[in-house]
Amino acid sequence: MSPKSISKEDVEELMKIKRKGEKELEEFFQSMIDEKRNNLGNDLISILIRAEEEGVKISEDELVPFCNLLLVAGNETTTNLISNAVFSIIENHGVYEEVRKNPSLIPQMVEEVLRYRSPAQVLRRIVTKETEIGGQRLQKGEVVLPWLGSANRDEKKFENASHFNIHRSPNHHIAFGHGIHFCLGAPLARLEANIAMTELIKRYSSITLPQGFTVDPIEDSAVYGLRSFPVIVRG
Ligand code: HEM
Repeated sequence: MSPKSISKEDVEELMKIKRKGEKELEEFFQSMIDEKRNNLGNDLISILIRAEEEGVKISEDELVPFCNLLLVAGNETTTNLISNAVFSIIENHGVYEEVRKNPSLIPQMVEEVLRYRSPAQVLRRIVTKETEIGGQRLQKGEVVLPWLGSANRDEKKFENASHFNIHRSPNHHIAFGHGIHFCLGAPLARLEANIAMTELIKRYSSITLPQGFTVDPIEDSAVYGLRSFPVIVRG
């Protein structure tokens, strides 16, 4: 659907589907929480329930939204990080072979993917008091969209910012945000990506793009990733 053809009715219909999905997900988590309450284990939801029962920070009202947040914040982002990593190292000639020869480069390669193809592209903030940033006056109540993907390719901060370079050092990207809301799952995301990339690279002597490959991006301005990604692997 091209942007021009989206009508008010389309948006309303989309919002209806979105609310229905959210409600179903809420019910799913609520039933899982109820079930766990009677049978606490060592899983994450049981740990959150225990914390609630011990009066630590998280309350009943917060449990479902927190499970939601963990699912959304922790799932698509990491999935995209892994496929963006595969894409970046096969798209850039010689990098796959280089990391295969020297797997100790994998963590710094993952950092460069986080910078170069940041899975979360944009945040949203509401101005709480009048202020000025970069010569721009901001009024209370205004919405600000800080583009992480743009900051991570800022030429003032990164030399040859549009070049994928796994040897970039330092590499102070902000793919996990900054400040008090810095990503809670950053160590887990890094661990998952490092493990996945290590296993893939160990297993396949080469991964290449099929002939006629065209990029099939996820159509969402906030998320950077591929909707589908066919590759050719050799054992
Ligand atoms: C590549 C993977 C990931 C990326 C790029 C990413 C990115 C981000 C970013 C940019 C923020 C800041 C949001 C803001 O300031 O408004 C954030 C927050 C957060 N992330 Fe991640 N994330 C990733 C993986 C994960 C994982 C695996 C989890 C949990 C399992 C997670 C849980 C969270 C939570 C709970 C917050 C909110 C923290 C707060 O508001 O204090 N994230 N993430």
